[in-house]
Amino acid sequence: MQLTPPAFDTVLVVDFGAQYAQLIARRVREAHVYSEIVPHTMPAAEMAARRPAAIIFSGGPKSVHVPGAPDIDPEVYDAGIPVLGICYGAQLLAQQLGGEVARTGRGEYGRTAMEVTAASALFADLPLSQDVWMSHGDSIAAVPAGFRVVASSAEAPVAALEDPDRRIYGVQFHPEVAHTARGQEVLKHFLYDVAGCRPSWTRTSIIEQQVDAVRAQLGGEKVICGLSGGVDSAVAAALVHKAAGDKLTCVFVDTGLMRQGEAEQVEDTFRRQFQVDLVHVKAADRFVDALNDVIDPERKRKIIGETFIRVFEEVARDLKDARFLVQGTLYPDIIESGTKDAARIKSHHNVGGLPEEMDFDLVEPLRNLFKDEVRAVGEELGLPEEIVWRQPFPGPGLAVRIVGTVTPERLEILRAADAIVLQEMRRAGLERELWQSFAVLVAARTVGVMGDERTYAYPIVIRAVTSDDAMTADWARLPYDVLERLSTRIINEVPGVNRVALDITSKPPGTIEWE
Ligand code: XMP
Repeated sequence: MQLTPPAFDTVLVVDFGAQYAQLIARRVREAHVYSEIVPHTMPAAEMAARRPAAIIFSGGPKSVHVPGAPDIDPEVYDAGIPVLGICYGAQLLAQQLGGEVARTGRGEYGRTAMEVTAASALFADLPLSQDVWMSHGDSIAAVPAGFRVVASSAEAPVAALEDPDRRIYGVQFHPEVAHTARGQEVLKHFLYDVAGCRPSWTRTSIIEQQVDAVRAQLGGEKVICGLSGGVDSAVAAALVHKAAGDKLTCVFVDTGLMRQGEAEQVEDTFRRQFQVDLVHVKAADRFVDALNDVIDPERKRKIIGETFIRVFEEVARDLKDARFLVQGTLYPDIIESGTKDAARIKSHHNVGGLPEEMDFDLVEPLRNLFKDEVRAVGEELGLPEEIVWRQPFPGPGLAVRIVGTVTPERLEILRAADAIVLQEMRRAGLERELWQSFAVLVAARTVGVMGDERTYAYPIVIRAVTSDDAMTADWARLPYDVLERLSTRIINEVPGVNRVALDITSKPPGTIEWE
């Protein structure tokens, strides 16, 4: 499957390592120009075959001088395609085109004052003195023939260089980071004024293009989509529904391990608002029975996964004339797995444990979108804010937030406490800022006193973290007044709880979830 939607000008962002490329690709898209990340090993002819409007070289963690430093097929410079090199990318193009990169031993890291020294399309209408974000050890010491220097800083005499005739540009600073205040304008100048890109990648055009693509792929055949309650599956379902109408059947397995109101919200949104054919499987009893007396977290996960598969199989038997299955794969999944051309793969990949022998063709309407674009599309499609901005939620649900046995009573306690956490985070305007915020129910009970009565009941632990990708996380510094409301409300409103504690562990050493 070709990723590039042909209706859009496309910018290729060449990845020289260490995640720099993703941020650049997102900034390009924020300028409403479609971008794709490609490896630096891609031959120039292959890049040119994609007919990009421009190519941007990312930064990278290495020096051009170390053996094995990543480079690029030099024919890329002769393809007539505008090029912008950023940091390592600028040094690489300077070196490959005959300039010189020096190991000065005097790098620049962080906010740096830069002077624009000659008129350049990149800096049109921008102040001559500006603060930029630098992170380099080496410096460009001499520009290649045909190039000129257009900006300098204290330790980077060549902070920007250009050959406007060949439309090849380089900047030593990072225009993609927020610390470079005018960085997005520099990028836009390159995209619009140098490369002539049209700003046509918008939420409405994304929807139109994806709806057309899905319609073409389905060819009028039936398609099913599992809804988890999360943003990705919801947006994927809403998009496919626009393309497939009543050929779409959504399946929502209510495990009884969801947060408060989630099942109702899925019903409300998909059955009532979108009038989607929704199979709502109420399987809470099966999951609780299967979890009876299970304490080990990994066994909980396994049991939940297996029960899910069994339930889904039963539903799928009734829907066996469907040939397609929707998956909410996002662009970062594609970049990370490196499988850009995943053709027909078995459905167990990434679907939260679907049966392996179910052999569907996959429909992946979000496969070229970043998370923020998925949210924008979701808003545009009219999905409720609570779904579009929902925080990540683990597949095994509340079961891995109950330390010890999962019983209907303990689920009820956790669900009620957790709902209060979410309400208060929303009320304090923190929900979108935090990666996750939730309640955990532990196995111990502690003594308390309420009124004249001694109590012996469960504590609830508040877990709230900030994170970019869940690989690392920091505990959130919640305001005292929010903590106070949480404590008072949970103890007053949730029977069975007499104490509230706060988890102040970052990841590592802790994990985000308790199990
Ligand atoms: P941890 O607890 O490992 O979690 O720091 C990292 C992120 O993954 C989510 N998580 C899960 N998601 N199935 C899932 O789909 C799981 O079994 C699972 N366990 C953890 C967690 O919520 C956090 O965002």
